[in-house]
This record gives sequence, C-alpha cells and structure tokens, in this order.
Amino acid sequence: MRVVFVGPPGSGKGTQAKVLCERFSIPQVSTGDMLRAAKAEGRLPADIIQAMASGGLVPDELVVKLIEQRTAEPDAKAGFLLDGFPRTVPQAESLGAMLAAQGSVLDAVIALEVPEKLLLERAIHRRTDKRTGQIYHLQYKPPPPGADLEHRHDDHEDVVRKRLATYLALTANLLPYYEKAGLLTRVNGVGEVSEVTDRCLAALSLEDKRGAHHG
Ligand code: AP5
Repeated sequence: MRVVFVGPPGSGKGTQAKVLCERFSIPQVSTGDMLRAAKAEGRLPADIIQAMASGGLVPDELVVKLIEQRTAEPDAKAGFLLDGFPRTVPQAESLGAMLAAQGSVLDAVIALEVPEKLLLERAIHRRTDKRTGQIYHLQYKPPPPGADLEHRHDDHEDVVRKRLATYLALTANLLPYYEKAGLLTRVNGVGEVSEVTDRCLAALSLEDKRGAHHG
C-alpha cells in the first residue's frame, strides 16, 4: 500500500498516519519529522532552518532526496504512508517518476479537510513527546504525567498562519492534480480521532475496490 496524506497544518496527518501505519504495518514517512530530526542532530543548514521557522517550504530537491533514500529502505518495500510529502506539484511529479522507475504506483491520496479556525487551535495547543514521538493536544488529547513535552517552534500563531498561507498557495494545487489522476479522496477531518480513522479506512477500501475494478 502506497498512500499519501495531504492536508493543511494541524489537519491531523501525523495523528492519523500513526494509527494507519500501525494497523497496516507500513512505515510512516514524514518529511517534517525527518527535517526536525536532522535539525536536532545539527545536520540542517541555516537557510533551511530559517525556511521552516518562517512557515515556508524547504527546496523540492532536498525533500525528494530524503524520500528517495527513505523509501528505498527494506521496511518500505511492502508500502509506506507519506505524511507531508509531496507538498508541491513538482514534488508530486518527482514522486510519480520515482515510483514508475521502481515499477510501482500510488494507491491513494487522502486529503484531510478541517476548517481554518480549528486548524489554528489544534496546531497552537499541540505538544509532542520528545521521547516517544506521540502527538498530544492540551485540550483534546492531554499528555500523561511525566511526558517530555515539546512545543514546536513553528506552532506559534503567527507562524501557523504563514504555514497555512503556504499550504493554500502551493500545496492545495495537489488536490486538482491528484483528483485528475483519480487518486484523491477528501476526508472530513473533524470529529473524534477514531471517527476520522474510520473515514480514512473507508476511503482506502474504496480505492482498493476502484483498483480491483480496473483490473
Ligand atoms: P510538517 O511537520 O509536515 O508540518 P505540517 O504539514 O504543517 O503538519 P503538522 O505536523 O503541523 O500537522 P498534522 O496535520 O500532522 O497534524 P497533527 O496530527 O500533528 O512540516 C513542518 C515544516 O517542514 C513545513 O512547514 C516545511 O517548512 C517543512 N517541510 C516538511 N515537508 C516538506 C516538503 N515536502 N516540502 C517542503 N518543505 C517541507 O495534529 C495537530 C494537533 O491536532 C495535535 O495536537 C493533535 O493531537 C490534534 N488532533 C489531531 N486530530 C484531531 C482530532 N480528530 N480531534 C481533535 N484534535 C485532533
């Protein structure tokens, strides 16, 4: 299974990706997580750090290379879920070319839809456990006592607004791109996490049927 999650900041891509990846035993491949890990290890150049901190995107070539390397690892042979990649049409084209070179294709693209007001509230009050990578929300999913919490630098309101503007200007172009390719399913991202998971699962089985129908 090769699946892409598209959605604005705070739409729940990481939350849903973790649940689905565990369920299907495939790796969650998040370019955001990979970039933050590289930064923590001191491997990210200053201009890239600056692009992330200001709510912009990092260069396509950099993330395409990260994805090429990560998806070539043995645990990704049976499939993967891409969370936060592609984010531009050129990235989507590179992904298509990469998969074609491997003799494979994308199975589905899920677009998580959440109203702007809720996106801001979700992102600003998000906290992540540094040790486990688990995602919490101060109101909707309170962290347990003893969690080693991190408040992302780009989760302050002014930067979240810029990330949202970047999404609308660049990443939202992926919706017509994948719709045209017959791969896109829009999923309502509002509701309990488990309700959204059920909608994602329904979207994936729909894609399965479509694949089977086309032989
Ligand atoms: P990245 O880390 O990918 O950030 P993002 O896309 O903005 O997404 P987020 O992680 O903010 O949100 P999410 O949708 O995963 O939501 P979550 O599940 O955490 O990228 C960071 C930066 O890296 C980018 O700005 C860019 O600079 C760079 N970058 C990354 N990839 C790139 C690429 N391909 N090209 C160029 N640059 C790239 O949920 C959010 C909160 O809501 C949590 O607190 C959660 O607990 C809560 N929540 C989730 N679901 C629900 C629910 N159903 N009900 C209530 N609360 C919920």
